Amino acid sequence: MKILVLIMELALICGLQADIKLGNIASQLTGEWFTIALGSNVTQKIEEGGSLRLFIKNIGEQNGIIKGTFFKRENGKCVQFSVSTKTEMGSPKQIEYDGLNEVSLQSIDSVHAIFVFHNSNNGKVTTWAELYGRTPDLPNEMKKKFEKICEKFGIRRDQIIDMSTDDRCSNLR
Ligand SMILES: *[C@@H]1O[C@H](CO)[C@@H](O)[C@H](O)[C@H]1NC(C)=O
Repeated sequence: MKILVLIMELALICGLQADIKLGNIASQLTGEWFTIALGSNVTQKIEEGGSLRLFIKNIGEQNGIIKGTFFKRENGKCVQFSVSTKTEMGSPKQIEYDGLNEVSLQSIDSVHAIFVFHNSNNGKVTTWAELYGRTPDLPNEMKKKFEKICEKFGIRRDQIIDMSTDDRCSNLR
């Protein structure tokens, strides 16, 4: 019986870790970031000219609302824009951008963060994922970890783009 309870507790802990609550780790999340890699099961969206080819600049938090500031290229020119989560801390996170995006934070520490999004636009669902780093590049083991998480969500390795050599609109930083 004791073992059963322990197993159930472990399952619960693991389950909770699978989707880190954004509200509890706001301090770890905020500040400057770089997009290290992008993945999507609809690769046109993360290729040049795609609506989800986004480069993170920073993440802020105010009164439970998380705000991300990004760069993207429009007709070859870099532009900056911001998006915010719709709901309060601790509840499911949604961001309106190119439709509606359900946000899930999959992994975070002092050097990296991995987000997975489900984008719904006109009844079509696109899964996309971003690997963020505090520095413009990250060690290979972090990229491997990103690949593993992407795979879990149906994004293949050939659907991942390493962005570390792209200039990522650094002229706007
Ligand atoms: C991408 O993933 C979503 C969610 O799993 C799925 O609904 C959609 O059909 C997938 N799209 C493609 C092109 O595989």
